[in-house]
Amino acid sequence: MSTQIDVLDLEKIEPRLQTKFIARPDVGKNEIWESINSTNTRATELAAAGGANGTLVLARQQTAGRGRLGRQWVSPSDSGIYASFLLKPEANSLQNLATITLAVGVAVARAIRTTAGIEIGLKWVNDLVVDGKKLGGILCEMPASPAGKSLIIGIGINVRFQEKDLPDDLKNRMVWLEKITSQPVDPNLVVAEIANQLEAIYDELLQGRAKNIMDEWREHSITLGKEIVASAGERTIQGKAIDIAPGGALIVDTGAGNVELHAGEITIRNADGSYC
Ligand code: BTN
Repeated sequence: MSTQIDVLDLEKIEPRLQTKFIARPDVGKNEIWESINSTNTRATELAAAGGANGTLVLARQQTAGRGRLGRQWVSPSDSGIYASFLLKPEANSLQNLATITLAVGVAVARAIRTTAGIEIGLKWVNDLVVDGKKLGGILCEMPASPAGKSLIIGIGINVRFQEKDLPDDLKNRMVWLEKITSQPVDPNLVVAEIANQLEAIYDELLQGRAKNIMDEWREHSITLGKEIVASAGERTIQGKAIDIAPGGALIVDTGAGNVELHAGEITIRNADGSYC
């Protein structure tokens, strides 16, 4: 007898929405794919084709899932949440969205706390982390089309994996919701709550009120106060991460002055000397 698992299903998500436009079926046509190359790529296509503000694209599997810095996002069937939201900000509000990746991390942290009872850590700039291991990540993209610039918010969260299916190096670096809770997690509850939280946070950003959200990011941060090594293109920066700037850059005290890191990737040195 096989046990029934909860898989992504729009019919279980849409009734749980408390949003005005994000993922609302009366505003746009959400999509769910059995298998697709990448939900971010599909949302970009929808943006070019005039898709509605707030449209949600979900997939049960991605064959070419994308991570930051051109990396692959491994997305096996029914193992994770693979979700992209298409947003269409007014051109004159784009400057308020500089911190969007950090803010989405806050929305996801709230949603995972409410639906799975898990406190997650946020690693600058886009990592969702529990106990130093990667639970998920965020990929925000701003494709331009004749209709103007869109904002695609891609979210990947590990839900269930079999330890035996993972190569050793990945096993030690990743974690998934059901491993943490030791019980089944319905991904539909998580997605619906992400949509609810995302709308609230996005509205605040658009109105230029990022400060409270950034304070909430600081509370979840596993980066601030730590020794880090950052690579940005050819450059390597080493020092202590001391804060985030109003525009979301990471402020690093190198000992020879403060440097603002706007992009790239960091490695954190933990108290026990390990790195994550
Ligand atoms: C990262 O940590 O590098 C970001 C990972 C983002 C993965 C998600 S899964 C849904 C969406 N579609 C993609 O191709 N990527 C994002």
